Amino acid sequence: MKRLNSLAFALLFALAGCNPGANDKGNDTIEGKVERLLAQMTLEEKVGQMNQYNGFYDATGPAPSEGDAKNKYEHLKKGWVGSVLNVKGAQEVFEMQRVVVEESRLGIPLIFGLDVIHGQKTLAPIPLGEAASWDLEAIEKSARIAAIEATATGQNWTFAPMVDISRDARWGRVMEGAGEDPYLGAKIGVARVKGFQGDDLSANNTMAACAKHFAGYGFAEAGRDYNTVDVGTSTLYNVIFPPFEAAVSAGVKTVMNSFNILNGIPATGDRFLQREILKGKWGFQGFVVSDWGSVGEMIKHGYAKDLKEAAELAANAGSDMDMESYAYVKYLAELVREGKVSEELVDDAVRRILRLKFELGLFDDPYRYCNTEREKELLYHEDHMKGVLDVAKKSIVLLKNENNLLPLAKNQKNIALIGALASDKTSPLGSWRVSSDDNTAVSVLEGLEAYSNDFKYAKGPKLVTSEVAFHIPLTFNMTDRSGMKEAIELAKRSDIVVMVLGEHGLLSGEGRSRVNIDLPGLQQELLEEVYKVNRNIVLVLMNGRPLALPWADQHIPAIVEAWHLGTQSGNAIAQVLYGDYNPSGKLTMSFPRHVGQCPIYYNHYSTGRPDVKPEVFWSHYSDESNDPLYPFGYGLSYTTFEYDALQVNVKSNEMVEVLVNVTNTGQVEGEEVVQLYLHDKAASVVRPVKELKGFEKIFLKPAESKQVKFTLTNKELGFFNHKGEFVVEPGMFDLMVGTSSVEGLNGQFELK
Ligand code: BGC
Repeated sequence: MKRLNSLAFALLFALAGCNPGANDKGNDTIEGKVERLLAQMTLEEKVGQMNQYNGFYDATGPAPSEGDAKNKYEHLKKGWVGSVLNVKGAQEVFEMQRVVVEESRLGIPLIFGLDVIHGQKTLAPIPLGEAASWDLEAIEKSARIAAIEATATGQNWTFAPMVDISRDARWGRVMEGAGEDPYLGAKIGVARVKGFQGDDLSANNTMAACAKHFAGYGFAEAGRDYNTVDVGTSTLYNVIFPPFEAAVSAGVKTVMNSFNILNGIPATGDRFLQREILKGKWGFQGFVVSDWGSVGEMIKHGYAKDLKEAAELAANAGSDMDMESYAYVKYLAELVREGKVSEELVDDAVRRILRLKFELGLFDDPYRYCNTEREKELLYHEDHMKGVLDVAKKSIVLLKNENNLLPLAKNQKNIALIGALASDKTSPLGSWRVSSDDNTAVSVLEGLEAYSNDFKYAKGPKLVTSEVAFHIPLTFNMTDRSGMKEAIELAKRSDIVVMVLGEHGLLSGEGRSRVNIDLPGLQQELLEEVYKVNRNIVLVLMNGRPLALPWADQHIPAIVEAWHLGTQSGNAIAQVLYGDYNPSGKLTMSFPRHVGQCPIYYNHYSTGRPDVKPEVFWSHYSDESNDPLYPFGYGLSYTTFEYDALQVNVKSNEMVEVLVNVTNTGQVEGEEVVQLYLHDKAASVVRPVKELKGFEKIFLKPAESKQVKFTLTNKELGFFNHKGEFVVEPGMFDLMVGTSSVEGLNGQFELK
């Protein structure tokens, strides 16, 4: 396809009767252009901008002539659609854009949205994995790569990053966020926004980002997706809001609301969230898109009596765009005429949407993302492969390494590789990979092949029995033990066994909550059987959430957390196993000992009875410890780091300087994430026992030392009270600087 150039478009647009850019000679502001265009729009056309449809139009075939899709197609031509999602490929986007631009009265271009969560074709690790790198630069770069590829396929809006804080490993969507900490979650969310949006949104390789899901979605009761959320003010302001507020401050262009009810009101219909907080207090200038069908779901929630009332409630509450509920397109104009929704509110929503279209440069050239040559050139680009390999290595967390079993010697002989996931080229791509191709991950088997020709592979029992696809629930093989014997035999005659076990890539993600967060299928049995014949096991875990694996922790000498690392999975894992990359990842979600501990998170409050007592009446479980198996911030290295010379200098009541020395005391170079935690000992609203308030990732050669300096300001020292006011209170603070949330040097200071 030839890309239409800007000149041709300007002509088309002029013919279509509207070209808000034509007479500006470059000195008109976007606001001015928006106003002029708005003034030309009918009420139906305004409402049309607030309507988003799922893709429906097969560019290579005839336009649909019946059913829902026909209506959608007619609506395109009438200018009743502002955006579409899931239209994939530069050609398809071009064809659909052309219908709107050439055939609708005002020719207002569409925005094309897609879930570009951890890449388009070349995939980076799932976001939870990537967060474990604590490497903001690498994370930003990964989002940049995703944007470069996605925009080459016609997209200009991603529904990412998900900045929901998650504390419950049962919830399948923990894979899509940055974990349990709001401070780190905010930093990572901002890095992702910057990566997607770049410095110039009008460039053809940057795209609008979307902070989602506003708000509270990660707090679904019992970890069951879409479930009720009921949280208090302190959690709302101090835990749930901060990553959203940070994304807004960083200039995120859109926000998605969420499916759940929050304290009795569906987020989609919540005026407090969308008008008071987001657009009011935080001054958000972008637009809010509903989640898929969430306007209509307010009926099932018991909040709206029918779809018309749902449209009224959502629009009045500040949901600017309706994703696939058909509520606005059907009822909003009528509601305005009846005086139930004011036209000013509609205008406000439309302004926000048009503003983004201007910022994206769509009025200069609506086909700027539609170049099939560019698409071919950029997908799976070599540079992107390098970028995702880099962040994949950094995302790996070494959980256990008894007797330095790892790294493997380069000349290690007689290795057994075991497990169905070891040769899988699709599962490591993980969940939320709506555009990637099956079988495009480098498997662990392939990764090891690059290092050794002295290993043998036994698959063991198969993992799943069903066909594996996005819309099909997985069923695990619990009965067919074929392959078990062969794997055990191989382990018996090998010197060392690398076992790759965990969750299939599609066992986490939306709609994929679990009550057992163990190794599914026959994998635990396989692990224990192999252990009986060979204890020299390196367990490589692939999973989309924290797993509870107390048996493995107790018995297996080396455990490597490798998430779903994306396209370069096997290469990243092999480099870590052989020590060509020294692991530096640290967990961003606590790994429980038992699912019964969920939700479990390091930044909890103290009870009035926290102290271990011989008798019954203290806060604990009778049958399990309170502690996680692996805590937040935890991860080992092939070298060791020592902390000393902690200094805490209170510069003023608004500034505390903290200094610490870190030395690499081992034999190899490595990176360490130096973490700073605070505890405000007595406050008007109780503060968590520990809160991350600073971190720095440093690189040290053997015997090298570095002094790391943290500056704590009001932002780190204060918190939100029950009125939603940010306060810094005098009093004593505990401080810890160290290698994880449970290990470090302790200090104290007082704010007067
Ligand atoms: C998810 C959103 C996603 C949307 C569009 C919904 O089911 O909750 O996160 O962006 O679908 O695919």
